Amino acid sequence: MCHILPHVLNCGEYCSCARLQQLFATYERRPRAIAVDFRKETSRRIDRARHYLHSYPAKLLAEIPNFFLSNTVLSRPGELVLDPFCGTGTVLLEAARHGRKCIGADSNPLARLIARVKLNTVRECEVRSAIQNIRRVAPTIMPKRFADVVNIDYWYHPHVKKQLQQIATVIDRMPASAVKDYVRVCFSQCARDVSKADPRLSVPVVLRNDQYPVRHPLADRTKRRIARLRRINVLNKFCGVVEENLRCVTEPIAGKRRANLTLISNAAQISTGLEPGSVQLVITSPPYLGAQKYIRASSLSLGWLGLCRADQLKALERKSIGREHFPKDTCAVLPAIGIAAADRRVADTARQNPVRAKIANAYLTEMKGVIQQLAKVLSARGYLVLIVGNNHLCGKSFPTEHYLRRIAESEGFVTRLRLVDTIRSRGLMTKRNKTANVISREWVLVLQKSSRSKTK
Ligand SMILES: C[S@@+](CC[C@H](N)C(=O)[O-])C[C@H]1O[C@@H](n2cnc3c(N)ncnc32)[C@H](O)[C@@H]1O
Repeated sequence: MCHILPHVLNCGEYCSCARLQQLFATYERRPRAIAVDFRKETSRRIDRARHYLHSYPAKLLAEIPNFFLSNTVLSRPGELVLDPFCGTGTVLLEAARHGRKCIGADSNPLARLIARVKLNTVRECEVRSAIQNIRRVAPTIMPKRFADVVNIDYWYHPHVKKQLQQIATVIDRMPASAVKDYVRVCFSQCARDVSKADPRLSVPVVLRNDQYPVRHPLADRTKRRIARLRRINVLNKFCGVVEENLRCVTEPIAGKRRANLTLISNAAQISTGLEPGSVQLVITSPPYLGAQKYIRASSLSLGWLGLCRADQLKALERKSIGREHFPKDTCAVLPAIGIAAADRRVADTARQNPVRAKIANAYLTEMKGVIQQLAKVLSARGYLVLIVGNNHLCGKSFPTEHYLRRIAESEGFVTRLRLVDTIRSRGLMTKRNKTANVISREWVLVLQKSSRSKTK
């Protein structure tokens, strides 16, 4: 435990340790959610360039893990931090920057690739030589076959598709290395940028000339973008993306210790690769109930990078917690979650809309499975920080925060703190359908594994 107390701090220096202890004490006296603005709770500079290496839906605000990792209240340098839904590695990067060892899981192979690249450092001269080679060789390639990208001709102009394939072919021939991974991530971002998809939406939707009324501030920009795509030089665009990001991946990660990053593909299997009690701290923002379509949002990149064939996208989506598609004949199967309020909510929904009831039931059941896994791998009195957003289901509120907290408590966790922050921008939030809302408040739950945990 850090022993810096507020009165020891001079010139108003910010100490997240004292602040966190103060929040714990306030919550202990009065266990009500405390409003905070994490953008103002940060003591150390955030490496934004690295965090923003590649777009991704519902990225976590880096200030949140930064706040919990920039002191020794929940974990110390050298200890192991886990994010079982690591996405592009926001928590992992903050953990590494604060001298922690880290491990992550994500079912989306694109997310795992981005996370790996963000946690690595590459040598500038090696990237430059790879780019020179791509510049020289790509234009000479005559593509005979194209990457298995879903509806490729719908998303790309013919000359764009051809140039992307030329670049992809040269990258594929590179030997496996950190440089190749970096170049692939830049290529993925470029493939999305030069597609006809609306850049403001996470899930690909074709941008139309009449998308906005004539006087709308985005009307002209949209028309210009559509016109530009018809004559874009993809190779130049790709080299530009590589160049733009180069500085952030060539600089060493301050604070990072030498350790290989382990990434696995399923949060539900986290305890198979980890010793019981080996993790000191879990920080994670789990998927929302049906609010984000991570696989659809990544479908173009998954195809171009050969990470998932078009006909395998549905199978990959079936591994995502929070998914929306279930075979009709499974909708009547609603196993009890064991939290009375949640079971009642599912049963009420089933009378109105059996499919939505199944979506909610599967979400909570699978999240319960992951929380059980986390209880196994966490050390005695280790902490779990859950960042969640409440949602709507069939027009009524669905308090995910409450349900997940109750599930965790039923697995032996004790709630030590509840914070609430207002999301101003959480990267391309999408409204799922007319029965859902856009999540606008972020709940941060700090739970501690208690001595009566079932997996003590
Ligand atoms: C809210 S996002 C996490 C975003 C991440 N914190 C970031 O900043 O990039 C939730 C993630 O959970 C992943 N996910 C969904 N189901 C999963 C599962 N069964 N196992 C592991 N990851 C899963 C999704 O692919 C998505 O990347």
